[in-house]
Amino acid sequence: MNVLITGGAGYIGSHIALSLLQQNHQVIVLDNLCNSSPIALTRVEALSGKKITFHQGDIRRRADLNQVFNQQPIDAVIHMAGLKSVNESLQKPVKYYQNNIAGTLMLLEIMKQHQVNKLIFSSSATVYGVPEKIPLCENCDTGNTTNPYGASKYMVEKIMGEVVDAQPELAITALRYFNPAGAHPSGQIGEHPEGIPNNLLPYLFQVANGQRGNLPVFGDDYETPDGTGVRDYIHVMDLAEGHIQALNHLKPGYRHYNLGTGQGYSVLEIVQMFEQVSGKHVPVDMRARRPGDVAICLSDPGQAKKELGWQATRGLEAMLRDAWRWHTQNPQGYMGSETL
Ligand code: NAD
Ligand code: UFG
Repeated sequence: MNVLITGGAGYIGSHIALSLLQQNHQVIVLDNLCNSSPIALTRVEALSGKKITFHQGDIRRRADLNQVFNQQPIDAVIHMAGLKSVNESLQKPVKYYQNNIAGTLMLLEIMKQHQVNKLIFSSSATVYGVPEKIPLCENCDTGNTTNPYGASKYMVEKIMGEVVDAQPELAITALRYFNPAGAHPSGQIGEHPEGIPNNLLPYLFQVANGQRGNLPVFGDDYETPDGTGVRDYIHVMDLAEGHIQALNHLKPGYRHYNLGTGQGYSVLEIVQMFEQVSGKHVPVDMRARRPGDVAICLSDPGQAKKELGWQATRGLEAMLRDAWRWHTQNPQGYMGSETL
């Protein structure tokens, strides 16, 4: 298949591009590089020995999308382009709604124009907001979101359901990722956030390599076994394989699936496992709870197993080992690496 990945130069998109190429699909990427580097794609090409067709452009621009869809036939789209910082979304909600919602509307319009009917969407466990119950299954309530980022994912899911009602030929699957982590085992591609990391693992790695003093732990008084927040971390290669399975099972209609492991780890368990894996000591600094955080976020991944034949196979140790390899081999991310 000719598969277009919007946002394909990003952290998760680059891993999906690699998995698709390894399954002999053709990969086309549209990315405006607002949070990524084209070097990720050259590394994916080197790892796979195959070429990617790259378009630098913006999903909000009709002309950019038309150029991509006019240049080659597209069989399916994996729509990953979006902004993802919860904090930034609280400061700049219009920017988030513009990018994540208006950009998706433009994509849906151009897909219709070019009669492309297959779409996989990067959604998030954040659509569940404050969990109604644990573990979260697909028929749990959604929409009780706590920030514009989460609201944008919830609204896009809702829009997609309505668009499918009006265009029954469309096959759309939204994948609700839990906490993506890890990197390709080669250490060649991975995640490198700009500035001070918001997320646990990138922050922890910067403490371990001496870039930052100690790891703030946000809250030790949650109702969890050790008082710190529990999350369902999923290896990015498992996520990538989940997309391939979702693509293989696409059929007309709108569906959504959790992509998680169903296994939760607390912040302190992560620190402990990382210390074992890396041999590094990570000093922690207990702080107050971070506003907006929930105690536990955990998936029931059963529906994806039943209907897509997919389940995560990599555990926390592999996530930490692979991500740490990427981090130590690329302490500045793709910066300072080979140019195109
Ligand atoms: P990322 O920032 O690494 O990748 C997103 C990519 O989209 C970047 O390469 C960026 O340059 C591109 N992009 C953004 N706006 C664009 C636009 N208007 N036009 C073209 N390209 C644009 O993030 P990621 O972690 O790879 O996440 C990919 C998707 O998965 C996002 O939609 C994100 O919301 C979703 N998601 C991520 C997580 C996570 O924790 N990483 C969790 C749940 C869902
Ligand atoms: N945490 C710390 N210290 C830090 C960073 C995080 O203690 O420096 C804690 C948090 O309080 C939480 C856990 O580590 O208990 C995980 O926090 P992250 O920021 O890594 O991840 P979140 O669960 O808050 O959110 C992530 C993504 C969202 C996405 C969500 C669900 O950032 O975009 O998973 O998919 F929506």
